[in-house]
Amino acid sequence: MKKIFLFFVIFGIFMSLSAEIINFKETPSQKEKRMEWWRKARFGMFIHWGLYSLAARHEWVKRNERMSNQEYRKYFEHFNPDLYNPVEWARLAKEAGMKYVVITAKHHEGFCLWDSKYTEYKVTNTPYGKDILKSFVKAFRKEGLRVGFYYSLLDWHHPDYIPDRNHPMFENKDFMKKAKNRDMNKYVRYMMNQLTELLTEYGRISSLFLDYSFPPKNGKRGKGRNDWQSVKLINLVRKLQPWIIVDDRLDLLDTPGGWDYRTPEQFMPRRWITYKGKKVPWETCQTFSGSWGYYRDEYTWKSVRQLIIMLIETVSKGGNLLLNVGPTARGTFDKRAVDRLKGIGKWMKYHERSIYGCTEAPREFKKPDNCLLTYNPETKRLYVHILVWPPLGRLFLDGFAGKVEYAQLLNDASEVQIINEPYWTVVERKFSKDTLVLKLPIKKPPVEIPVIELFLK
Ligand code: GLC
Repeated sequence: MKKIFLFFVIFGIFMSLSAEIINFKETPSQKEKRMEWWRKARFGMFIHWGLYSLAARHEWVKRNERMSNQEYRKYFEHFNPDLYNPVEWARLAKEAGMKYVVITAKHHEGFCLWDSKYTEYKVTNTPYGKDILKSFVKAFRKEGLRVGFYYSLLDWHHPDYIPDRNHPMFENKDFMKKAKNRDMNKYVRYMMNQLTELLTEYGRISSLFLDYSFPPKNGKRGKGRNDWQSVKLINLVRKLQPWIIVDDRLDLLDTPGGWDYRTPEQFMPRRWITYKGKKVPWETCQTFSGSWGYYRDEYTWKSVRQLIIMLIETVSKGGNLLLNVGPTARGTFDKRAVDRLKGIGKWMKYHERSIYGCTEAPREFKKPDNCLLTYNPETKRLYVHILVWPPLGRLFLDGFAGKVEYAQLLNDASEVQIINEPYWTVVERKFSKDTLVLKLPIKKPPVEIPVIELFLK
């Protein structure tokens, strides 16, 4: 009797432990291989689209203005993006030089852009009436871009979701009282069902952006791995699409296999991001103007130049850039977004070689003033991005002497001469032996950020 009891105790412990284990094993080199396309792509498009696009004042408008489901309902009833043409979107993304796309299948508001069997709160029940993801996936794949989904863990509409400090109704006592008996298990089942739909009905999904976990703060309820049952979720995801690349917002940072890359948001890291002392894959997601969803009256838009620099700087630190567009409720990219995408594309047309497949330059090459370096380890070419064109026709590169075989401007493949005598300074009265001197044209080449391509020996 005792033995049987003991068996069940041990079995029980084993089962509860194994529920916490991620069933996904791979070696570091297998992981490198899985993430290779993503690492080389370097540049993707984020798309935030949902009912908040009608409000046109931030995708958090429901929370910001403490709207009830009823108050928010008007956007659902008027959702009719008659100009939606994903072929156009895909072309704009491709022209800008983007290699992949991530779209909000469901954002925090809970509205679904696809014909989910598990909810009525979906696009097919709006005046628009059609599944948006189906045509989206097809159009982007046709242009050669990889497709990823963003799926919000938060849900401000679902009746089983336990409201927390980020919920629109958190301050509403009546609502909170009624929500007392909600069952997160049911909500987790809902997420499992929806993720299964997204990962089985739309072909190969290249990446998944699950958003997000937030620990309790000042005694106010938060949400993390236990609430989402994160291990269960990620096991499902990896089982359905073993090659998929998953972000780091499930609150599983310390769990092997719990994430693939870090996601600094609207912020440029000072250097390559590390975890426990090791450099890790990372992707920064950025907006044009501070809001992810379409925001009509927001005017702090970054310039094309700032955006190009952002892309170069990200790659120079070994990361990816996921640049966001918030389409309008008619289904178009607004003019400000189109202008910027085209501007970036104009630069990328001549300079993509300094972005794709590139990463941080080896340590021995010091970054000159007003420059950013990237490096392609396969072709052994180093790229010097000159942010401020020097007035005196010379560029001094410390640590480069004797290591460069040939130099050219990337935009027109015109030679940049290497001046062979070591650099001599009047002030220092000495030769600097490790400094390479390049002879630049006085006039800045007619591109936003000129790049010099160095073929290393
Ligand atoms: C945040 C915001 C959200 C946005 C996301 C993008 O988590 O809640 O609105 O979608 O970041 O990374």
